[in-house]
Amino acid sequence: MISRAPVPIARIAGTGRFLPPRVLTNAELEAMVETSDEWIRTRTGITERRVAEGEMGAAVMGAGAAEAALANAGLTASDIDVVLVSTATPDRLLPSTACDVQALIGANRAFAYDFATACSGFPYGLAMATGHIAAGQAENVLVICTEKMSSIVDWSDRTTCVLFGDGAGAAVVSRATGESGILSSFMRSDGTLAELLYRPAGGARIPIDIAVLDEKNHFIKMAGPEVFKNAVRSMCDAAEEALRRAGVTSEEIDLLVPHQANIRIIESTAKYASIPMEKVFVNVDKYGNMSSASVPVALDEAREQGRVGEGSLVLMVAFGAGLTWAANVVRL
Ligand code: UT7
Repeated sequence: MISRAPVPIARIAGTGRFLPPRVLTNAELEAMVETSDEWIRTRTGITERRVAEGEMGAAVMGAGAAEAALANAGLTASDIDVVLVSTATPDRLLPSTACDVQALIGANRAFAYDFATACSGFPYGLAMATGHIAAGQAENVLVICTEKMSSIVDWSDRTTCVLFGDGAGAAVVSRATGESGILSSFMRSDGTLAELLYRPAGGARIPIDIAVLDEKNHFIKMAGPEVFKNAVRSMCDAAEEALRRAGVTSEEIDLLVPHQANIRIIESTAKYASIPMEKVFVNVDKYGNMSSASVPVALDEAREQGRVGEGSLVLMVAFGAGLTWAANVVRL
């Protein structure tokens, strides 16, 4: 179904982020695995990332981002009707991290649930929030993307441990009242490619036991180069389709806010989408790949830095495990 929306149903009323204070540099990784600052910077664009230490988990980081987004929107937690949490690293498997975030922030009128679309969480979440508002179930929705990737990477595997970081980003999505809002959403997935990027064990089919721990099958595994190729192709397709559904051209876009996995993927996506790098937001150097948190953290920083403001046209595009990919065009 095509979600073309000339009159927007929902808008982004506020954004926020939470980044754990501990910075892990490439130099520190050089002492942990056989890697180099030079390799990490040239192959990925990453120079440092954040790590949530101790018991700081997805709920606490998500609540921090949510409170910042509420303050930015001028709302309180009791104004919220729905708490949506995207995470690949829930604090517990039961109940949802969304319910924990709800309790932490005191969103006492809301219903809350998690969804699992990996790095594509923010564009999916904006579409889901729009749906709840369109169905008359909500006026204000919190979309929270929170990831403690450091808890699922194998710190002895140089092919993955240098890539990821921890953090959370959030947006308050409210009913649109004018021309500003979410103009289009595009979402796709391909479950036949699930094992290009996955955690083999730790769920219901293969619970964690001694053999799983010995084989390190509770950690993230990624076929990097295959994922890279799919990422570029899928993000380009998603960007093109979101633009078409919004009825705008890439020349009209003020800022592209892409998933921050690798600077080379970002540059290729921008090139194919015909958007010059001056109009692309990049912070992968500071945070690495924060999975679904990367797009909302980038959007929040872009707003704070004045790269976009009221009336700006923003294209957001993401790609991740599933495989999943998605994009939105939003008038702020
Ligand atoms: O957010 C979800 C989506 N995820 C992504 O989009 C990630 C997509 N993939 C990538 O970003 C890239 O494929 C990587 C950054 C993961 C890898 O970059 P690459 O240019 O595709 O490198 P490669 O995997 O082909 O490895 C090249 C070489 C290999 O050595 P040989 O076989 O050529 O001798 C690797 O063993 O680099 C080696 N290598 C490393 N060397 C130093 C792999 N990781 C490291 C490392 N440090 N950390």
